[in-house]
Amino acid sequence: MASQDSTYASPKWWKEAIIYQVYPSSFQSHPGNTTGWGSVKGITSRLDYLKELGVDVLWTSPIYKSPQADMGYDIADYEDIDPCYGTLADVDDLIRELKRRDMRLVMDLVVNHTSNQHAWFLESKSSKTNPKRDWYIWKAPKSINPDGSPEPPNNWAQILGEANSAWNYDQVTGEYYLGLFTPDQPDLNWENPEVREAVWDVMHFWLKRGVSGFRMDVINLISKVPSYPDAPLILGPGHKYQPGQQFFVNGPKLHDYLTEMNRQVLSKYDALALGEMPFIYDEDEILKAVGARSGELNMIFIFGLVDIDNPNVRMALKPWTVREMKAIITRWQRTMIEKDGWNTVFIENHDQPRSVSRYADDSDEWRDKGAKLLALMQTTLGGTLFVYQGEEIGMRNARSGEWPPEAFRDVETINYWKKVQTLYANDPDMLSLGRKVMDMKARDHARTPMQWSAAPNAGFCDPEVTPWMRVMSDYKTVNVESQMQQQSGEDSDGELTTWQFWQRCLKNRAEHKEVFVYGDFHDQSPADPNVYAYIRTSSVDSGDRWLVVLNFSGQKQRFVLPEALELESWALGNYVSEKTPRKPLGRAVDLQEWEGLIGKVRR
Ligand code: NOJ
Repeated sequence: MASQDSTYASPKWWKEAIIYQVYPSSFQSHPGNTTGWGSVKGITSRLDYLKELGVDVLWTSPIYKSPQADMGYDIADYEDIDPCYGTLADVDDLIRELKRRDMRLVMDLVVNHTSNQHAWFLESKSSKTNPKRDWYIWKAPKSINPDGSPEPPNNWAQILGEANSAWNYDQVTGEYYLGLFTPDQPDLNWENPEVREAVWDVMHFWLKRGVSGFRMDVINLISKVPSYPDAPLILGPGHKYQPGQQFFVNGPKLHDYLTEMNRQVLSKYDALALGEMPFIYDEDEILKAVGARSGELNMIFIFGLVDIDNPNVRMALKPWTVREMKAIITRWQRTMIEKDGWNTVFIENHDQPRSVSRYADDSDEWRDKGAKLLALMQTTLGGTLFVYQGEEIGMRNARSGEWPPEAFRDVETINYWKKVQTLYANDPDMLSLGRKVMDMKARDHARTPMQWSAAPNAGFCDPEVTPWMRVMSDYKTVNVESQMQQQSGEDSDGELTTWQFWQRCLKNRAEHKEVFVYGDFHDQSPADPNVYAYIRTSSVDSGDRWLVVLNFSGQKQRFVLPEALELESWALGNYVSEKTPRKPLGRAVDLQEWEGLIGKVRR
């Protein structure tokens, strides 16, 4: 249980919000738009849809001016909108329309790096004496080879292309700049107070315009170990460059910078401060950022669950078990309650494959059950809930082998495939393993156009326009329109569709916030290899307890309730349409394949 003076259960708008992530290029275009990209006007046209689903806050991935080398995570102007998405006036309109519906907008803030086309960087690279030289991280070559070519300052690999150095040589000034992600994304030098001031200005600009907070891209990478040492060799032979994470993740000044950000900006608004923090699992480090008294951020994305199948780089596969998955979720549920922090609940975003393909079974037979099982889990965990576009209709990865390599558009996948082809040109087994990794892990799977209807281009853009990214082949059967309209639900015997089920689960969460958002959490089945069962207890009325039982397997399972628990009624289940599932209330709960249930426990 939380300690006496814990603020864990004190209500805040950003704790109970249901936040929906829009990937703007793929969400919704607008009539007459010939770009094949989504647009801000398109987003605005879907606000009623989001409201009906049960969403309170919209977070959009970057829509700022950008050359789109990394789909907008390379920003060339923080105070303007990319013409492919629209104009500042369109964003003002979006904010107005959101407010009218009692909803809010959260922007992506990408300030670990800028685009190499940002005016700051163009100045910085123009000469060694330019006043903005020190706004980025420039270093002399480590050495010069006998053939006259320079060697980078250290062996760090690029994060989105680990075959390459994170350092990029500039012929004009004879120095390297750091670009941890790609050469198009030079890292800002946060040691320089002018850089920090400029970031605070950007934040004020948007908060004054009416946005309600930020999702801060890789915010735990802004402080680097100043000596820039070589990374240990952890990748196999053939890899010249190595992951340097230990020298730039949660670096020595991170907490100083976040505290300063809070003092200079966040404390002046009632804004959401959400940090994306990859590569860190250390409890103390995480709590320094999100502990209720930390004075830094409100919450962060912890990567435990989405890193479950990553060995040490993302584009690779590692076997995992349901028991491990449960342990990760339980760990952070308990930690935040016990240590007065705050969780984020997410299982998808634009950097991850689709959840039903990854954590359940995305075959035609089981996709629907699996997607609903995940909906039950997500909507009953403590913390702020994030839903990623398409998750609500159970969108899945492209079928294995369905896409030719050139259909993958993401810079990470393109670099990965290049590397595989270079390293394993004569090794068919390794080439086919490379393809398998792409089919299972590429970020492209989450970036396909939203499937609105069975119309051409899935209703994402006008029929005669070619979308920037291919539409999944199943859009005629899996789409919003058919899932919203299907006559099922309350008055029929049919099962709810995935969309209708999500809507109902979100409603259930909203109606019982004191249980599912703010309540206590106790794992009931840590040792069970297939079933995840947990109890959520109300933060207000300690007698109100709910049981969640989830079968994460394609086999029937039996879960036996601990003796102290007695079921009063079932409330929701993914096999049934009735409000109260007709299931026996005995201690033995027999579960169908991928079946999930929520029930009330007797006081
Ligand atoms: C995390 C973002 O979510 C991802 O899409 C991007 O490639 C990197 N940060 C770099 O900005």
